[in-house]
Amino acid sequence: MKYPFLVLLAIFSFKAGASTPEQRGLQVFRQVCSSCHSLNYVAYSDLSDLGLSVVAIKDYASQHQVADGLDDDGDPKTRPAHPSDRIGSPYPSENLARLANHGGLPPDFSRLALTQQGGTARIIQILQSYASAPEGTVLPKGSYYNLAMKHRHIAMPQPLHDGQVQYSDGTSSTIPQMSQDVGAFLEWAAHPHLHTRRKVGVFTLLYLIAMSILVFFLKKRIWKKVKN
Ligand code: HEC
Repeated sequence: MKYPFLVLLAIFSFKAGASTPEQRGLQVFRQVCSSCHSLNYVAYSDLSDLGLSVVAIKDYASQHQVADGLDDDGDPKTRPAHPSDRIGSPYPSENLARLANHGGLPPDFSRLALTQQGGTARIIQILQSYASAPEGTVLPKGSYYNLAMKHRHIAMPQPLHDGQVQYSDGTSSTIPQMSQDVGAFLEWAAHPHLHTRRKVGVFTLLYLIAMSILVFFLKKRIWKKVKN
C-alpha cells in the first residue's frame, strides 16, 4: 500500500518544481505591466491562490505605499501596503496616469480578460503585434505602431521584449511565451476563484464516488443478513 503513495508524492513534488503559466504571468505583471496598470479588485493575499507563500505576499505588499489618511498638518500620509490591500495603480490619480502616458489611460487589469473585446486571445495578439511602421506612416503623437489595432496604432509603448524577465524554472522568456503567460495571469485575475472551485469540485466528486462505493457494500452486507 506504500507504493502508490510514493508515486503520488513523486508526481506532486515534480509539479511543485515547475511553474504554472499563471505564476510566470504574475512575474511578468510584477516586473513589466504593473509600472502602468492596476489590479484594483485583486488583493495581495489573493495571490495565495497562485501558490505564493504568506511571506512572499507580505514582502510584495510591503514594497508598495497606500494612502493612510492625513497627518497632523493635514497632509496626506502613506504606509506600506498590507496583504489585505488591493494591488492598486502605480499612479496617484487618473490625471497623472494620463499625463505620464501622452493622454492614454492604462486600463485596470482586474476584469480586462472579460471586458476586452476578443478576451485574452486578443490581449495576447496585441502584445505580439508591435512592428516598425512602414516608411511614410504618420503616427499620432505618443502612439506606437501595432498591427492588431484597427487604426494600426496604440497609446501603449511595446511592453515586452525577448529575454526581459528571468523565469525561475528556466522557461525561455520570448515575447510569445511572456504574452501567453501574462494572458493566463489576466484570465486568472478575471476569475480569481476558478482554481479553488475546480479543486473543490474534483474533491466533491471523489468524495461522492467513495461514499457510493461504501454505501453499496454496506447495503450488500445488511441485506445478506436479512436473506439468511
Ligand atoms: C509604459 C506604460 C505601460 C506598460 C508598461 C504597459 N502598458 Fe498596457 N497600456 C498602456 C496604455 C497607456 C494603454 C492605453 C492604450 C490606448 O488607449 O491606446 C494600455 C493599454 C493596454 C491594453 C488594452 C489595449 C486596447 O485594446 O486598447 C492591454 C490589453 C494592455 N495594455 C496590456 C498590457 C500588458 C499585458 C502589459 C505588461 C506586459 C502592459 N500592458 C504594460 C500603458 C502601459
